[in-house]
Amino acid sequence: MAKKKNLRSSEWFNSKNHKRDTFLHRGWMRNQGHPQHLFDGRPVIGICNTWSELTPCNGHFREISDYVKKGVYEAGGFPLEFPVFSASESNLRPTAMLFRNLASMDVEEAIRGNPIDGVVLLMGCDKTTPSLLMGAGSVDLPTIGVSGGPMLNGQYQGNTIGSGTGVWKLDADLTAGIISENDFIDAEISMSRSKGNCMTMGTASTMGSMVEALGMSLPGNAAIPAVDSRRYSLAFMSGKRIVEMVNEDLKMSKIITKKSFENAIKVNGAIGGSTNAVIHLAAIAGRLEIDIGLSDWEKSGKNIPTLVNLQPSGKYLMEDFYYAGGLPVVIKRLLEKKILHEQCITVNGKTIFENNIDAKCWNDDVIKKYETPLVENGGIKILRGNIAPDGAIIKPSAASPELMKHKGKAVVFESVEELHNKIDNPNLDVDENSILVLKNCGPKGYPGMAEVGNMRLPQKLLKKGIRDMIRISDARMSGTAYGTVILHTSPETAVKGPLAAVQNGDIIELDVERGVLNLLVDEKIIKKRVDSYKPVLPDIKGGYQKMYVDHVMQADKGADLDFLVGKRGDKVKRYSH
Ligand code: FES
Repeated sequence: MAKKKNLRSSEWFNSKNHKRDTFLHRGWMRNQGHPQHLFDGRPVIGICNTWSELTPCNGHFREISDYVKKGVYEAGGFPLEFPVFSASESNLRPTAMLFRNLASMDVEEAIRGNPIDGVVLLMGCDKTTPSLLMGAGSVDLPTIGVSGGPMLNGQYQGNTIGSGTGVWKLDADLTAGIISENDFIDAEISMSRSKGNCMTMGTASTMGSMVEALGMSLPGNAAIPAVDSRRYSLAFMSGKRIVEMVNEDLKMSKIITKKSFENAIKVNGAIGGSTNAVIHLAAIAGRLEIDIGLSDWEKSGKNIPTLVNLQPSGKYLMEDFYYAGGLPVVIKRLLEKKILHEQCITVNGKTIFENNIDAKCWNDDVIKKYETPLVENGGIKILRGNIAPDGAIIKPSAASPELMKHKGKAVVFESVEELHNKIDNPNLDVDENSILVLKNCGPKGYPGMAEVGNMRLPQKLLKKGIRDMIRISDARMSGTAYGTVILHTSPETAVKGPLAAVQNGDIIELDVERGVLNLLVDEKIIKKRVDSYKPVLPDIKGGYQKMYVDHVMQADKGADLDFLVGKRGDKVKRYSH
């Protein structure tokens, strides 16, 4: 393969006109022991690492990075690893989503400002995948994604348990008095028994699948368990491939196109993917100046059957998914039905068709056949109506079929705090036909749009054996959660979206098939209530959070900061010493 001339790293390391600068750039790098020949004009590959001990899902990324480096060296490149902000879903407060955009800014500036010709993105825990793709998208160098992979299946008391999904079930059982406090604690390490990210089809595994469906990783990336030797081989091969991508000038914008997003939306339906993908794909698309909105989910996501039988929609876990053949089988099954754009190019230079059409399935109960799916019409359903003029979403595959068409009395909570204070009050006027409504949890309201939309059910109903009710909010929900949960109502309550108008006892109508979500109250009364509504706004003292609240866009636009949308390229001003 011909080597690319005029590498951007040569501006730092090989400039003939600025010998003093070159000395300074090269000399200081050499304090790490790099020999001179590594600065001979070979591609410099940045390894963008979200490793952190506070992001346990990404705790093994230094090992993965070592394998990427081996591949880069073998292909004649020079790998340099750098850390970026790592947003941990399990630890970061008030919510990791608040920091997705901050992390993306870090990624973008770190890539652009450094002597890098191509980038490997090491991604795992939920927000680390979109933040890296968003930041890298705004620079648009040759880029390849390597996910950290899921944990091994949880094993508890003779049964498998899935990350997140198991927690919601165990918590309901504890509240209902079915299990003890000690049982609950024992389940912790039984659930998380290896390195890796959540092994349900939660947001992390969904976004890993989106990376593969978009063509941004080598085939098979989504499902290989974090501790499986094949994960490390894939990292090695990705390191090798990024050097070739630099020489081919195969930039991110040549791979990610409107069509590849449409493919990703369809794949999301087939895997029963997380509702969070709606927000993250919109934000990534925005960075690459591609318009992806709820209407694309309506169009491309329509009538896609859910094939993957994984929790929270089904019964298996990511380890099973990998052993059954992983995402290539899902893509093959959609390709056979002519559902995908088959000519979309991927990072290995081949089309999505060439990569996946020969995939083999080893377990048709884990990856169902197209003709006998887990759910006929899976995916994400978009709802509209006077509560959510700019849309709301529901994941039918994780919901109760009998609640998909329902009218019920609203039980309203103005904030998460009010929900926690009142939900278990025995005098709360609520029954299983009621609809729980939570306000002020959108992008500006919480802030960061916390994953609180799958509200816990009232204790008195849990004790009666009720396990699902309709819940509506402007919040998000964990990709591992389940239930008849309507999310992302836009505009949010904090900017006086019409969810603000809902009061206790109002009747709400839901019809998922027709895509309808309405408050059955006279429109004039709704307007009057909205006009006089006083949102519960967060107490922001300044700093990044102030900037976030001032600039964050609504959920239907991807909740990116308005000034971050778009490509700003890889050009950077020379700093002359
Ligand atoms: Fe990190 Fe679930 S908490 S992937």
